[in-house]
Amino acid sequence: MPEMEAVKPLLAQFKDERANLIPILQEIQAAFSYLPEEALRRVARKLHVPVTDVYQVATFYRCFSLKPRGRHLVQVCLGTACHVRGGDLVLERTQTETGAGLSGTSPDLEFTVEPVRCLGCCGLAPVMRVDRDTFAHLDQAKVRGIVNRYHPRRKPATVDKIAASPEKVRS
Ligand code: FES
Repeated sequence: MPEMEAVKPLLAQFKDERANLIPILQEIQAAFSYLPEEALRRVARKLHVPVTDVYQVATFYRCFSLKPRGRHLVQVCLGTACHVRGGDLVLERTQTETGAGLSGTSPDLEFTVEPVRCLGCCGLAPVMRVDRDTFAHLDQAKVRGIVNRYHPRRKPATVDKIAASPEKVRS
């Protein structure tokens, strides 16, 4: 498995201590955009822990994924405020525009699309977040322009963006 060649030097940076489990998984996640099964086995061998312990940690934290993830994380809010203003339609269009469909991740690994329960800025519903950027007052027609901004081979369109964390957004 050629990608496992990249795991060797990565593991070599760490001592064989259980305390290094999470930092090692973070490195692997960053390198591959997910945690390949064989990499998890190698981590278990290196740290002398059961592979089930490694899986437990890998599946507990949302920052880790056992499946390949897209370069951009798109979170579409389906909380109550967003839902009643058409959040489900925004999600549907986002799944189509990114190519992620119902599988969650686009075949070109550019996008992973996730429905979420609340992004903390309900007054701006419907809302979606792409990586750290928040987009407000959405409808289906605005989705393509937003997706195109992040796609390397598409022409970006001008879209109002609220470049702030939800805490900084007034709702
Ligand atoms: S319900 Fe969508 S931001 Fe709160």
